[in-house]
Amino acid sequence: MSNTDDSKKGHAINPAANQDGMAKGLTNYGDRGFSLFLRKAFIKGAGYTDKALDRPVIGITNTGSAYNPCHGNMPQLMEAVKRGIMMAGGLPMDFPTISIHESFSQPNSMFLRNLMSMDTEEVLLAAPMDAVVLIGGCDKTVPAQLMGAASAGLPAVQLITGSMLTGSHRSERVGACTDCRRYWGKFRAEEIDAEEIAEVNGKLVASVGTCSVMGTASTMACIAEALGMTVPGGATPPAVTADRMRVAEESGALAVELARKRLGIDQILTEKAFENAMRVLLAIGGSTNGIIHLTAIAGRMGFEIDLKALDRMGRETPVLLDLKPSGIHYMEDFHAAGGMATLLRELKPLLHLDAMTVTGRTLGEEIDAAGPGFKQDVVKTASNPIYPQGGIAVLEGNLAPGGAIIKQSAAHPQLMEHEGRAVVFENLEDMANRIDSPNLDVTPEDILVLKHIGPKGAAMPEAGYMPIPKKLAVAGCKDIVRISDGRMSGTAFGTIVLHVTPESAIGGPLAYVQNGDRIRLSVANRELSLLISDEELARRASLKPVVIPTAQRGYRKLFLESVTQADKGVDFDFLMPPATAGKIPKK
Ligand code: FES
Repeated sequence: MSNTDDSKKGHAINPAANQDGMAKGLTNYGDRGFSLFLRKAFIKGAGYTDKALDRPVIGITNTGSAYNPCHGNMPQLMEAVKRGIMMAGGLPMDFPTISIHESFSQPNSMFLRNLMSMDTEEVLLAAPMDAVVLIGGCDKTVPAQLMGAASAGLPAVQLITGSMLTGSHRSERVGACTDCRRYWGKFRAEEIDAEEIAEVNGKLVASVGTCSVMGTASTMACIAEALGMTVPGGATPPAVTADRMRVAEESGALAVELARKRLGIDQILTEKAFENAMRVLLAIGGSTNGIIHLTAIAGRMGFEIDLKALDRMGRETPVLLDLKPSGIHYMEDFHAAGGMATLLRELKPLLHLDAMTVTGRTLGEEIDAAGPGFKQDVVKTASNPIYPQGGIAVLEGNLAPGGAIIKQSAAHPQLMEHEGRAVVFENLEDMANRIDSPNLDVTPEDILVLKHIGPKGAAMPEAGYMPIPKKLAVAGCKDIVRISDGRMSGTAFGTIVLHVTPESAIGGPLAYVQNGDRIRLSVANRELSLLISDEELARRASLKPVVIPTAQRGYRKLFLESVTQADKGVDFDFLMPPATAGKIPKK
């Protein structure tokens, strides 16, 4: 017998004595004692001792994948998390889940987010663990993990993989993916040639890690910290830095503490935490996708994000963070400027400082513990913001009875009050076929309308950022009003109305817009109107009943039958709890 084998020294197989650690969630054979006996027999086959198996068990989601360079530092992160868990007296147990990268997800990553959340939730429930470290980074992964963990109800710490470093092209600093879009726009407008665009392609992503601007990944990292789900300072360290590895080690240690204190996720993801996250989303000029994901995470806790209230909050919450695409800096600059502590300190009067965080201390206590601020130029002061209102405005009108949104901080000021003629594309294929045609009847004063890219129409791709029609781009047009029921990348910019609800595929008014209709956009009045009468709209609807997309089998069938609209977070209806706990914010 090995001298480390203490199976005969009092580690009885008695599941009634302990419901934690390895004794949690036993496979059901109708005999709990046998279930634990069998589990331990198998895990000992991997060389574990009873002494190790008696420790608090901390799960770690391993979302490393050759298809996900945004998670390319996973091996180093895993090692650091395990070190932290072991130092704190826990037993690390890593397991794989689905990993989603934006550019390696067909038809698009939103289609897979709910699947990843289900995968995460079910493994968290199926395998024994007292707490979990969720490692995510690329756009859909953090929301999927928070949704899954919220539903599973386990103590959880979110660890972010971290942003990529910026690169350099002919002395100009570049980073994915705002600069990807900018350079592609230059190429389309024939300002740069094929040789230069190929050269830029090798410079935009200078290391592993998530997009280096305030895209959806960075937005969700900041939201996770604002929710109190990360270690303080966990949002901003770049992927390849020592700071990121220290955050990983701390996350592991913290998860052991969470398990010991039994600090559940329901004590962190409260109404106050979500309201803080809404403030942060507005103040960072965050991705429009952040609203959808925050709505979905809140929905798992039974809360409903009140979009009108978000808009009201936006009117009193300035954009303070000077990051692309709303500003000029990159995530590594935000980290050097003190990261989220600098932002939260400035936002303090607008936050619920008594919201609990995974450290067991309140958000206010963590802001104070971060110490005083210092001179920097990335986070502006409330008296000198980069944009006077929140980054996102919520629109309403007969074209979007359930609401639509616009990222006003990244829009062209002269187009935010605009009336124009609709140039309609029936779907993505139609747009791809005609957008660059020299015969397209379009002027810079027109409004591009793209239908059938909502949740049921096309799994809501980031196609709301329609390209400027080639003939206008070549003539120097840099922006044009665009409207759709789809999403856009958080790294994109322009006067772009998104998330039109209800979507065209289920018969929302957008389905009945015709070429030549007049549309009015007024961001000041929060208005999105199709300038035709109600009678004419009803007449068009009666002439063209919609056929809602269906599928014969598999996950696509589940998706199409269950997916909700943008105002419900594009979650599956059956994953949301049956009773709602109310709106956020309450007043
Ligand atoms: Fe992964 Fe941008 S593609 S964060």
